[in-house]
Amino acid sequence: MLSAVPRPVTVRVPAKINLHLAVGGVRPDGFHDLVTVFHAVSLFDEVSVERADEPTLDVHGDGVAEVPLDATNLAWRAVELLAQKAGRDPDVRVTLRKGIPVAGGMAGGSADAAGALVALSTLWRMELGRDELSELAAELGSDVTFGLHGGTALGTGRGEQIIPVLARHRLHWVIALARGGLSTPGVFRELDRLRGDGDIPERPVEPVLEALAGGDPRQLALNLGNDLQAAAVSMAPDLRRTLRAGVNSGALAGLVSGSGPTCAFLCADADSAVDVATELAGMGVCRTVRVAHGPVNGARVVDDDEHP
Ligand code: C5P
Repeated sequence: MLSAVPRPVTVRVPAKINLHLAVGGVRPDGFHDLVTVFHAVSLFDEVSVERADEPTLDVHGDGVAEVPLDATNLAWRAVELLAQKAGRDPDVRVTLRKGIPVAGGMAGGSADAAGALVALSTLWRMELGRDELSELAAELGSDVTFGLHGGTALGTGRGEQIIPVLARHRLHWVIALARGGLSTPGVFRELDRLRGDGDIPERPVEPVLEALAGGDPRQLALNLGNDLQAAAVSMAPDLRRTLRAGVNSGALAGLVSGSGPTCAFLCADADSAVDVATELAGMGVCRTVRVAHGPVNGARVVDDDEHP
């Protein structure tokens, strides 16, 4: 029998790390030109939307105290953008279940916005194509487009132009969550300050793409790099200790994820990731650790039997 009230739609959406992040100069719009390799890993947020009498936003999980509950929340801005496009009122309840660290440099807020776009366009049966959704995503933030796509992808522009990248093998990661957060604009500003008027150093992306195509994590480990890392470490000097501890625990390499302060450690295989995570957890250099793998899919509707 058809129900008169549509069921909630739930979307699962992953965190990202940047395997490569080359930051160029400041553009006239205040953003920086980027060349980055996004990689979606198996830490997820869930975004549910359902009809409601009043527009409502609920957030559950770790770090919720730092998540804005007002109109500045990126998932809510996604709802308003879609409502405007559909010419309807945003009469929905949005529920975010956070598994991605808040303000951690893993694009959790952007993931929620990508999830909200997919969930609400499904609830409202808007039948938007990939291109239309990507355009809306780009309006919301630099990392939202990647949240839709997932996988491993080359990002250019301010990060919103995405091309899938051939990545042959599953990669195994240990993710070290920090105690506080870092503000993304603050970290970009710190990088500009550290660079001063000097030349911007080159960071070529080709070796990373070749290592991904080859599928050898050791080769990839030699080529991971993030221009924002120096700025994040300058603002949160303890990260130096965390990065060293991960490598001393047996990781192939470690780097700050995006604007930080989360650190990601590439491991040789799944067993090694468990060993590194166990050792790192005992060293007191981070709030908590997670084991993850990538690449994983971008924002996807979760079936009822997966999510009763
Ligand atoms: O696009 P998003 O809202 O995620 O960006 C957050 C902030 O990060 C921007 O306001 C800007 O300060 C900085 N940013 C940047 N260049 C980029 C992406 C982000 O300067 N390409």
